[in-house]
Amino acid sequence: MGTSEQRRIVVAVTGGIAAYKIPELVRGLGRAGHRVRCALTPEAAHFVSPLVLQTLSGEPVRSQLLDPGEEGSIGHIDLADWAELVVVAPATANVLARMCHGIADDLVTTLLLATRAPVLVAPAMNVNMWNHPATRDNVAALRERGVRMVGPETGELACGWEGEGRMAEPAAILEAAERCLRAPSLRGRGVLVTAGGTVEPIDSVRSLTNRSSGKMGFAVAAEAALRGASVTLVAGPSHLPTPAGVRRIDVETALEMRDAVLRELPDASVVVKAAAVADFRPRVVHERKLKKEDLAPDQGLTLELVRNPDILEEISRDRGDRVVVGFAAETHDVVEAARRKLARKGCDLLVANDVSRGDAGFDVDENAVTFVWPGGEVEELPLLSKAQVAGQLWDRIEKRLLGGRE
Ligand code: C5P
Repeated sequence: MGTSEQRRIVVAVTGGIAAYKIPELVRGLGRAGHRVRCALTPEAAHFVSPLVLQTLSGEPVRSQLLDPGEEGSIGHIDLADWAELVVVAPATANVLARMCHGIADDLVTTLLLATRAPVLVAPAMNVNMWNHPATRDNVAALRERGVRMVGPETGELACGWEGEGRMAEPAAILEAAERCLRAPSLRGRGVLVTAGGTVEPIDSVRSLTNRSSGKMGFAVAAEAALRGASVTLVAGPSHLPTPAGVRRIDVETALEMRDAVLRELPDASVVVKAAAVADFRPRVVHERKLKKEDLAPDQGLTLELVRNPDILEEISRDRGDRVVVGFAAETHDVVEAARRKLARKGCDLLVANDVSRGDAGFDVDENAVTFVWPGGEVEELPLLSKAQVAGQLWDRIEKRLLGGRE
């Protein structure tokens, strides 16, 4: 999936063991038709040979900030200005911290402070370093500033630990780089996305909810923002960071979600409803905690539930030119159930996922979805990251649903 034009990419390599995979990334970027120049921190050269990078990129490799020889050929500011994209891979906890605080004490961090190009980072580190509050804060601040992230993935780490911290594979970094370089195809469009589960209170301390991490909807919102849309995300309770460039409205109940969606609807030309909205809510919400001591020892508790409004059905009904996409989490007969749901809800596309699979769906970073179209057509996608699923979804919305529409 190469972009048609040749683009200028700086690959900034920092000192992590995953640097040994960078020659493959440089090769892939070259094969996709791009020009690549590598910049290394002094530590990076312990993990990957500058000569290999130079040979594969066909361009001089730089590692010194103040080397008169190197500065003479391409000054660090020239390199920062030359880049149409800077990819930092692997990105250590240290470089993320220095980026976050604007420290420019070597070639890579100086380049990162000077460039006006978009920056994509592929973090790689020990799981405890990744989970450290300092790194979490740095990552959140960088995201907020528009720095894009790919990975890290979960698995075996070079330090012997298992967990989140593996650098994304070169193919995934390549794909993320292509996404960063793509023209903002949704510029000028208002997009409304819902995500997460709603929470329906029973009393002041208990509630009913649907299992949903919100990851899929957040990825859909993030991808739309990357494509230049003006995105509003209506989210049920979730600890996920707000994607860069996205306006977030937090809600708790289905009724609050409905209010927020109806209020934001006039500005949206596309609505993607990825939220797991509770279908029912307790008819009565007790103001104080219900106490078991108030019941006889053998007495159960009966809750009366009433139907929540179906927001998707409601907004699909009089949608005019607006594109409306729904999601469906199913555990069996996934496609058949999705077809029926599509007919009942009347939306333009339904994205079905089988949540009975252990490797996809709830709370994990991957999803295996099937696109179900109103004409009966069904497209089954392989297991992909949620970011990739979001990319595939927006590709289809753009080509098949927005084609020709202003
Ligand atoms: O009927 P079900 O909840 O499985 O349908 C899933 C789709 O409908 C999702 O897109 C979800 O966001 C949407 N939905 C809704 N309002 C509801 C229930 C579901 O918008 N009350």
